[in-house]
Amino acid sequence: MTTILLLHGPNLSQLGTRDPRHYGTATLAEVVAAARVEAEAHGARLDHLQTEHEGELLARLHAARTDATGAVVLNAGAWTHSSYALHDALELLEVPKVELHLSNVHARESFRRTSVIAPACDGSIAGFGVHGYPLAVRAALALHAQRTATRDSAGPPPS
Ligand code: DQA
Repeated sequence: MTTILLLHGPNLSQLGTRDPRHYGTATLAEVVAAARVEAEAHGARLDHLQTEHEGELLARLHAARTDATGAVVLNAGAWTHSSYALHDALELLEVPKVELHLSNVHARESFRRTSVIAPACDGSIAGFGVHGYPLAVRAALALHAQRTATRDSAGPPPS
């Protein structure tokens, strides 16, 4: 069974009451549930971590290199715009990675228009609020299936 790893960075624990104009009123538990329902509808499982500590997020990404994670969906919060360490950890991880934001970061303050993690991700989804979560899970599963098919059709490595 494919595992999708959903990761949330700082301040996303406050969803529900945090700036509803940009982030809506869904709580963290509700956005995670939206992602989980989509994963399970496709026969996959969802693992989730939210943290206020950058090192914890990095350690979880390092663990994902060897724990059979199939793909990552990541809302890195403000670390999106500043963390080269997060960029490097994502770059190390070979599975598909989808960058996700609730708000349309391109229509807000100029610092939010730069994502330092985008070059280390396969693509990004932003601006659709809670609806972005199932979309991101579907994209992650599709990329995972595509990579698995490409790997399988390549056959075993030469001995
Ligand atoms: C966010 C956008 C970021 O700019 C911000 O720092 C967040 C949330 C979003 O989901 O829209 O914490 O990632």
